[in-house]
Amino acid sequence: MNAVFPGSFDPITNGHMDVLTRASKIFDHVTVTVMHNARKQGRHLFTLEERLDILRADTGHLSNVSVDSFGGLLVTYMQQQGQGVIVRGLRAVSDYEYELQIAHLNRQLGEVETVFIMAATRWSYVSSSMAREIASYQGDIASMVPPASAAALRRKFQGGGQGQIERGG
Ligand code: PNS
Repeated sequence: MNAVFPGSFDPITNGHMDVLTRASKIFDHVTVTVMHNARKQGRHLFTLEERLDILRADTGHLSNVSVDSFGGLLVTYMQQQGQGVIVRGLRAVSDYEYELQIAHLNRQLGEVETVFIMAATRWSYVSSSMAREIASYQGDIASMVPPASAAALRRKFQGGGQGQIERGG
């Protein structure tokens, strides 16, 4: 059975890596696919090519994992892949409601099953947005994201990220 692990991956975190590594032990092949999230449109830090490069570098050691991108509906992509299952990670109960809705939607639209993998509790607080924010203040993100992702974040914010807050402003 093949699986697709879709997401924005802006950039990939250790939580994503945990879910992906465990999925790669369950399924014959896992494709990590960068897709559009309409809720995040125009708010990406990394370009699609940058996100793909980071993913390729950080997942290169997983022999049954490949990296791809797709600009349409997830169910269309699944059809093109000959179906298989969707893998999504859950960090906390707060993720559940949204994921439940999408899983039902994808089953309704394309008869595709979604398999959830609970991210290890040590990654429950890690998100791409938090890693981006911490990196923008030159904070240490080495324990939150894999190496290529960390290097790309550091490069992005080299020479300072966030501006000064004016006193009394
Ligand atoms: O990492 P994210 O942003 O939580 O991933 C969400 C993603 C990209 C998997 C989701 O938005 C998606 O499936 N986008 C493709 C378009 C689609 O099929 N939309 C309908 C379901 S929301």
